[in-house]
Amino acid sequence: MSAILKDPHLQLYPMRLVDVDEVMALERRCYEFPWTSGIFTDCLAVGYCCWTCRLDEQILGYAVMSVAAGEAHILNVCVHPEYRGHGLGQRLLQRLLTLAGKHGADSVFLEVRASNLVALGLYRKTGFNEIGVRRGYYPVRGGREDAILLALSL
Ligand SMILES: CC(C)(COP(=O)(O)OP(=O)(O)OC[C@H]1O[C@@H](n2cnc3c(N)ncnc32)[C@H](O)[C@@H]1OP(=O)(O)O)[C@@H](O)C(=O)NCCC(=O)NCCS
Repeated sequence: MSAILKDPHLQLYPMRLVDVDEVMALERRCYEFPWTSGIFTDCLAVGYCCWTCRLDEQILGYAVMSVAAGEAHILNVCVHPEYRGHGLGQRLLQRLLTLAGKHGADSVFLEVRASNLVALGLYRKTGFNEIGVRRGYYPVRGGREDAILLALSL
């Protein structure tokens, strides 16, 4: 296990409204087509599962999921570029899956860019299976890119 995962100061916390500015700074750094702060505040307002991973006061990652009618949808999982490859993405994802089960979901779905091999690796390793492709679902500079649809039965 990576040393950072054993650090007692590394903890997961529910995201708060006051976290949104810091989350947005990471979001902008990590995605070419980032969410807006309004999307995060809306997710918090409607009660989606929104979590941060913190090392002391610094947010190192975050994840967002909706759960309704027995289905969970993972909407965002993101880790600070300088802290990747240490298992933080896996830890955030596991927290979402635990919560999905607690909220009565029996299936979890998500979409990922076809070019995002790291995220695909994370999801496959966690047990997600490909169930389809949405052609041209995401914008890319100068065009569109497919989304791979993934699902996991809890
Ligand atoms: C995807 C992301 C969340 C992974 O976070 P992370 O903390 O680096 O992931 P972990 O360290 O928990 O790695 C878990 C698994 O992901 C895969 N993975 C991680 N880094 C990888 C890399 N550089 N190359 C290939 N696979 C990789 C591996 O399967 C890994 O398992 P392993 O360590 O047993 O090999 C992170 O890269 C990220 O924030 N990317 C930008 C935002 C994004 O694309 N989010 C996904 C949107 S759907």
